Amino acid sequence: MTPLPERMHTRFTALLAIRYPIVQGGLSHLSYAELAAAVSNAGGLGQIGCACFATPEALQANIQQAKRLTTRPFGVNFPIGHIPLDAFVDAALAEGVAAISITGGNPESLLRRIQRSGVQVRTMVLVAGVRAAQKAESLGADAVIAVGVEGGGHLGRDDIGTMVLVPRIIESVSIPVLASGGIADGRGLVASLALGAEGVELGTRFVAVRESNAHPNYQQALVEAKETDTVIVERAIGRPARVLKGQAASSILRVEQELEQERAEPDERLLRLLPFVLGKVNQRAALDGELDEGFVWAGQVVGLIHDVPTSQALIERIVREAHEIVQRIQRVF
Ligand SMILES: Cc1cc2nc3c(=O)[nH]c(=O)nc-3n(C[C@H](O)[C@H](O)[C@H](O)COP(=O)(O)O)c2cc1C
Repeated sequence: MTPLPERMHTRFTALLAIRYPIVQGGLSHLSYAELAAAVSNAGGLGQIGCACFATPEALQANIQQAKRLTTRPFGVNFPIGHIPLDAFVDAALAEGVAAISITGGNPESLLRRIQRSGVQVRTMVLVAGVRAAQKAESLGADAVIAVGVEGGGHLGRDDIGTMVLVPRIIESVSIPVLASGGIADGRGLVASLALGAEGVELGTRFVAVRESNAHPNYQQALVEAKETDTVIVERAIGRPARVLKGQAASSILRVEQELEQERAEPDERLLRLLPFVLGKVNQRAALDGELDEGFVWAGQVVGLIHDVPTSQALIERIVREAHEIVQRIQRVF
């Protein structure tokens, strides 16, 4: 086996003082201290998902737990939209986390709050288009994460794939850009670097690791799924998200089709669809393992997931494979 490179050098690894430019995406209900710390201990950047917690105190306690599990930098992810996040952000700032990532809406007020606090923390904004990336940069974000339509969970509305989105964003901003959506291995890491990205963010791949909170049935479903086994739901309410195909996903799509046929008003759409897309429907499958009773988020990258390793084994494998690929490519010229 080729030796594991000690570290990789990009502006992003320098920014966060981490060994490898591999970020574990915020994973609603799945990414707690154990996962974040395992990823960070392996040289990447782990993240606790704010959406896992009902109160700022619970988030703060989990951050404290992560600090007991690792001395390495880790982050907290904030999805805008469900509940007011100010107090949660304050909890993360009080604990002095290394990074904060923001997704799902206008990041301005959270970025301003972070900047006003005077706390030294690196900020990353998830984007799916050039304008959002430029806005994040103008608001003072330290990096953007460009998420292509292949990705699992919530997506942008323009359906741009990672291969085009990442270089377009790189030509449009000067802060470091991470590639996300469809990346699971060393091939994806090298491809992202080739596009000009300074790191990668992996979501679905980190659902299927030992330290994630996902039910073993969910993880096994990811291992068995092919790249054709995902579908985008919630387009009818303007917030497209990629999930694994299944009974619950089919029900959601059926309701969406009815709503389109009826040309239903936005309020009516939300009212009729909500019971099918609620967090607790997701949790029934993701946490309880009842895959027929709920939907689970997953990206097309499921086609590349064949096992459930530890986070450390996964990261070492990705880095080693990336290194081997770069050596092979050098022989091409
Ligand atoms: C189960 C799951 C939950 C997710 N929850 C969040 C979240 O809470 N916050 C967030 O920023 N992104 C979330 N995402 C998106 C990921 O962080 C990441 O951007 C996306 O998964 C990248 O695509 P990939 O799945 O192909 O790696 C989630 C993705 C999955 C698969």
